[in-house]
Amino acid sequence: MNKKFVCSRSQVPANGMVECEAEGGLKLLVANAGDAYFAYQAVCPHQDVPLCEGLYDGAILTCHQHLWQWDIRTGAAIGLAEASLESFPVQVDGDSIYVVAQGALNAAALFAGISDQTLAAITALAKKEEYGAGNALYNFGDPADDFFVLESGRVEFLIGRDERLSPAGFMLRKGEVFGWAALLENQPQRIARATCLEQSRLLRINGKQALQVLEKDPASGYVVMRRLSSLIARYLASSGSK
Ligand code: FES
Repeated sequence: MNKKFVCSRSQVPANGMVECEAEGGLKLLVANAGDAYFAYQAVCPHQDVPLCEGLYDGAILTCHQHLWQWDIRTGAAIGLAEASLESFPVQVDGDSIYVVAQGALNAAALFAGISDQTLAAITALAKKEEYGAGNALYNFGDPADDFFVLESGRVEFLIGRDERLSPAGFMLRKGEVFGWAALLENQPQRIARATCLEQSRLLRINGKQALQVLEKDPASGYVVMRRLSSLIARYLASSGSK
Protein backbone atom coordinates (compact mmCIF):
# COMPACT_ATOMS: atom_id res chain seq x y z
CA MET A 1 0.00 0.00 0.00
CA ASN A 2 1.36 3.40 -0.99
CA LYS A 3 0.65 5.49 2.12
CA LYS A 4 1.90 9.08 2.25
CA PHE A 5 2.05 11.43 5.23
CA VAL A 6 0.11 14.65 4.57
CA CYS A 7 -0.07 16.63 7.80
CA SER A 8 -0.91 16.36 11.47
CA ARG A 9 -4.48 16.70 12.74
CA SER A 10 -3.50 19.79 14.71
CA GLN A 11 -2.75 21.60 11.42
CA VAL A 12 -6.36 21.29 10.26
CA PRO A 13 -8.79 23.72 11.94
CA ALA A 14 -11.97 22.19 13.40
CA ASN A 15 -14.56 22.18 10.60
CA GLY A 16 -11.99 24.03 8.51
CA MET A 17 -9.53 23.27 5.75
CA VAL A 18 -5.90 23.75 4.85
CA GLU A 19 -3.70 23.13 1.82
CA CYS A 20 -0.88 20.65 2.51
CA GLU A 21 1.89 19.03 0.56
CA ALA A 22 1.99 15.26 0.94
CA GLU A 23 5.22 13.25 0.96
CA GLY A 24 6.42 13.26 -2.64
CA GLY A 25 5.12 16.77 -3.36
CA LEU A 26 1.43 16.15 -4.11
CA LYS A 27 -0.62 19.21 -3.07
CA LEU A 28 -3.89 18.42 -1.35
CA LEU A 29 -6.76 20.19 0.32
CA VAL A 30 -7.37 18.60 3.73
CA ALA A 31 -10.69 19.33 5.42
CA ASN A 32 -12.17 18.42 8.78
CA ALA A 33 -15.86 17.73 9.39
CA GLY A 34 -16.59 16.68 12.98
CA ASP A 35 -14.49 13.57 13.65
CA ALA A 36 -13.67 12.94 9.99
CA TYR A 37 -10.92 14.16 7.67
CA PHE A 38 -11.01 14.33 3.89
CA ALA A 39 -8.37 14.98 1.26
CA TYR A 40 -9.05 16.38 -2.20
CA GLN A 41 -7.22 17.90 -5.12
CA ALA A 42 -5.85 21.30 -4.11
CA VAL A 43 -6.93 23.16 -7.25
CA CYS A 44 -10.46 23.77 -8.51
CA PRO A 45 -11.44 21.37 -11.33
CA HIS A 46 -12.82 24.37 -13.24
CA GLN A 47 -9.80 26.65 -13.46
CA ASP A 48 -6.42 27.18 -11.83
CA VAL A 49 -7.69 28.45 -8.46
CA PRO A 50 -6.57 27.04 -5.07
CA LEU A 51 -9.58 25.61 -3.26
CA CYS A 52 -8.11 26.66 0.10
CA GLU A 53 -8.97 30.26 -0.86
CA GLY A 54 -12.64 29.30 -1.06
CA LEU A 55 -15.32 29.06 1.58
CA TYR A 56 -16.03 26.07 3.77
CA ASP A 57 -18.73 25.80 6.43
CA GLY A 58 -17.90 22.32 7.73
CA ALA A 59 -20.13 20.61 5.16
CA ILE A 60 -20.04 22.42 1.81
CA LEU A 61 -16.92 23.67 0.04
CA THR A 62 -17.39 26.64 -2.31
CA CYS A 63 -14.83 27.92 -4.80
CA HIS A 64 -14.94 31.70 -4.52
CA GLN A 65 -14.17 32.25 -8.19
CA HIS A 66 -17.36 30.99 -9.89
CA LEU A 67 -19.14 29.45 -6.89
CA TRP A 68 -18.85 25.79 -7.82
CA GLN A 69 -19.69 23.73 -4.72
CA TRP A 70 -18.98 20.24 -3.39
CA ASP A 71 -20.15 18.00 -0.58
CA ILE A 72 -17.07 17.67 1.63
CA ARG A 73 -17.91 14.09 2.64
CA THR A 74 -18.05 12.75 -0.92
CA GLY A 75 -16.52 15.40 -3.20
CA ALA A 76 -19.73 15.24 -5.26
CA ALA A 77 -20.61 18.32 -7.29
CA ILE A 78 -23.51 20.44 -6.04
CA GLY A 79 -25.48 23.18 -7.80
CA LEU A 80 -23.46 24.94 -10.49
CA ALA A 81 -20.44 22.64 -10.30
CA GLU A 82 -19.89 20.55 -13.43
CA ALA A 83 -17.25 18.20 -12.02
CA SER A 84 -16.74 16.40 -8.74
CA LEU A 85 -13.48 16.60 -6.80
CA GLU A 86 -10.76 14.00 -6.99
CA SER A 87 -10.70 12.43 -3.56
CA PHE A 88 -7.82 10.64 -1.86
CA PRO A 89 -8.61 7.94 0.70
CA VAL A 90 -7.47 9.18 4.13
CA GLN A 91 -6.06 7.21 7.04
CA VAL A 92 -5.68 8.81 10.46
CA ASP A 93 -3.08 7.31 12.76
CA GLY A 94 -2.75 9.13 16.08
CA ASP A 95 -2.11 12.78 15.19
CA SER A 96 -0.97 11.94 11.65
CA ILE A 97 -3.07 12.12 8.50
CA TYR A 98 -2.07 9.95 5.53
CA VAL A 99 -3.47 9.45 2.04
CA VAL A 100 -3.39 6.16 0.20
CA ALA A 101 -2.35 6.58 -3.43
CA GLN A 102 -4.03 4.57 -6.19
CA GLY A 103 -3.07 4.06 -9.85
CA ALA A 104 -4.53 6.42 -12.46
CA LEU A 105 -6.23 3.70 -14.48
CA ASN A 106 -7.92 2.32 -11.35
CA ALA A 107 -9.06 5.85 -10.54
CA ALA A 108 -10.36 6.48 -14.07
CA ALA A 109 -14.13 6.98 -13.92
CA LEU A 110 -14.37 5.79 -17.54
CA PHE A 111 -13.31 2.30 -16.47
CA ALA A 112 -15.04 2.09 -13.07
CA GLY A 113 -17.07 -1.10 -12.76
CA ILE A 114 -15.52 -3.03 -15.64
CA SER A 115 -14.29 -6.56 -15.00
CA ASP A 116 -10.88 -7.02 -13.35
CA GLN A 117 -9.72 -9.10 -16.31
CA THR A 118 -10.60 -6.38 -18.83
CA LEU A 119 -9.06 -3.65 -16.66
CA ALA A 120 -5.87 -5.72 -16.45
CA ALA A 121 -5.84 -6.16 -20.25
CA ILE A 122 -6.22 -2.39 -20.80
CA THR A 123 -3.57 -1.71 -18.16
CA ALA A 124 -1.20 -3.96 -20.10
CA LEU A 125 -1.66 -1.71 -23.17
CA ALA A 126 -0.77 1.47 -21.25
CA LYS A 127 2.58 3.16 -21.82
CA LYS A 128 3.79 5.61 -19.16
CA GLU A 129 4.96 8.96 -20.51
CA GLU A 130 6.12 12.20 -18.92
CA TYR A 131 5.99 15.68 -20.45
CA GLY A 132 7.25 19.07 -19.36
CA ALA A 133 5.27 22.29 -19.05
CA GLY A 134 4.33 23.70 -22.45
CA ASN A 135 4.63 20.39 -24.31
CA ALA A 136 1.82 19.86 -26.81
CA LEU A 137 0.40 16.34 -26.69
CA TYR A 138 -1.55 16.75 -29.90
CA ASN A 139 -2.90 19.43 -32.19
CA PHE A 140 -5.93 19.93 -34.42
CA GLY A 141 -5.98 17.48 -37.29
CA ASP A 142 -3.39 15.08 -35.82
CA PRO A 143 -4.26 11.39 -36.18
CA ALA A 144 -6.35 10.23 -33.21
CA ASP A 145 -4.64 6.90 -32.54
CA ASP A 146 -4.21 6.98 -28.76
CA PHE A 147 -6.15 8.18 -25.76
CA PHE A 148 -4.58 9.29 -22.47
CA VAL A 149 -5.19 8.95 -18.75
CA LEU A 150 -3.76 11.73 -16.58
CA GLU A 151 -1.63 10.40 -13.72
CA SER A 152 -0.38 13.72 -12.40
CA GLY A 153 0.01 17.29 -13.57
CA ARG A 154 -2.40 19.42 -15.57
CA VAL A 155 -3.47 19.51 -19.19
CA GLU A 156 -5.26 22.35 -20.96
CA PHE A 157 -7.46 22.01 -24.02
CA LEU A 158 -7.94 24.64 -26.68
CA ILE A 159 -10.83 24.52 -29.07
CA GLY A 160 -11.67 26.69 -32.07
CA ARG A 161 -9.39 27.67 -34.92
CA ASP A 162 -6.36 29.93 -35.40
CA GLU A 163 -6.79 33.31 -33.73
CA ARG A 164 -10.16 32.25 -32.30
CA LEU A 165 -8.65 29.59 -30.02
CA SER A 166 -10.13 29.47 -26.54
CA PRO A 167 -9.81 27.21 -23.49
CA ALA A 168 -12.36 24.39 -23.43
CA GLY A 169 -13.46 25.53 -19.98
CA PHE A 170 -12.27 22.71 -17.76
CA MET A 171 -9.09 21.11 -16.54
CA LEU A 172 -8.47 17.49 -15.81
CA ARG A 173 -7.88 15.65 -12.60
CA LYS A 174 -6.09 12.41 -11.94
CA GLY A 175 -7.66 9.45 -13.70
CA GLU A 176 -9.49 11.55 -16.28
CA VAL A 177 -9.38 10.31 -19.82
CA PHE A 178 -8.77 12.60 -22.76
CA GLY A 179 -8.05 12.18 -26.44
CA TRP A 180 -11.12 9.92 -26.50
CA ALA A 181 -11.53 10.45 -30.27
CA ALA A 182 -9.21 7.41 -30.47
CA LEU A 183 -12.12 5.32 -29.12
CA LEU A 184 -14.54 6.49 -31.83
CA GLU A 185 -14.66 4.69 -35.16
CA ASN A 186 -15.37 7.71 -37.37
CA GLN A 187 -13.18 10.28 -35.66
CA PRO A 188 -9.70 9.76 -37.12
CA GLN A 189 -8.44 13.30 -36.30
CA ARG A 190 -8.02 15.46 -33.21
CA ILE A 191 -10.60 18.20 -32.71
CA ALA A 192 -8.73 20.11 -29.99
CA ARG A 193 -5.20 21.01 -28.93
CA ALA A 194 -3.93 19.47 -25.68
CA THR A 195 -0.95 21.06 -23.88
CA CYS A 196 0.65 20.26 -20.53
CA LEU A 197 0.49 23.24 -18.16
CA GLU A 198 3.07 21.68 -15.84
CA GLN A 199 5.22 18.55 -15.60
CA SER A 200 2.67 15.81 -16.24
CA ARG A 201 2.63 12.02 -16.16
CA LEU A 202 0.28 10.20 -18.49
CA LEU A 203 -0.75 6.76 -19.58
CA ARG A 204 -0.98 6.47 -23.39
CA ILE A 205 -3.26 3.69 -24.66
CA ASN A 206 -3.88 2.74 -28.27
CA GLY A 207 -7.60 3.20 -29.05
CA LYS A 208 -7.97 0.33 -31.55
CA GLN A 209 -6.29 -2.17 -29.23
CA ALA A 210 -8.45 -1.03 -26.29
CA LEU A 211 -11.60 -1.48 -28.41
CA GLN A 212 -10.49 -5.01 -29.30
CA VAL A 213 -10.17 -5.76 -25.57
CA LEU A 214 -13.64 -4.31 -24.89
CA GLU A 215 -15.21 -6.28 -27.77
CA LYS A 216 -14.24 -9.49 -25.98
CA ASP A 217 -16.16 -8.35 -22.85
CA PRO A 218 -19.40 -6.74 -24.11
CA ALA A 219 -20.71 -5.99 -20.60
CA SER A 220 -17.59 -3.94 -19.79
CA GLY A 221 -17.64 -2.44 -23.29
CA TYR A 222 -21.21 -1.23 -22.76
CA VAL A 223 -20.24 0.46 -19.46
CA VAL A 224 -17.31 2.24 -21.10
CA MET A 225 -19.31 3.38 -24.12
CA ARG A 226 -22.08 4.81 -21.95
CA ARG A 227 -19.54 6.81 -19.97
CA LEU A 228 -17.82 7.89 -23.16
CA SER A 229 -21.08 9.37 -24.44
CA SER A 230 -21.30 11.43 -21.22
CA LEU A 231 -17.75 12.68 -21.76
CA ILE A 232 -18.63 13.75 -25.29
CA ALA A 233 -21.77 15.50 -24.05
CA ARG A 234 -19.63 17.38 -21.50
CA TYR A 235 -17.22 18.43 -24.24
CA LEU A 236 -20.06 19.60 -26.52
CA ALA A 237 -21.73 21.56 -23.70
CA SER A 238 -18.40 23.20 -22.88
CA SER A 239 -17.54 24.14 -26.47
CA GLY A 240 -21.13 25.24 -27.17
CA SER A 241 -20.98 27.79 -24.38
CA LYS A 242 -18.09 29.63 -26.07
S1 FES B 1 -12.33 28.46 -10.78
FE1 FES B 1 -13.42 27.42 -9.23
S2 FES B 1 -15.45 27.58 -9.84
FE2 FES B 1 -14.38 28.53 -11.46
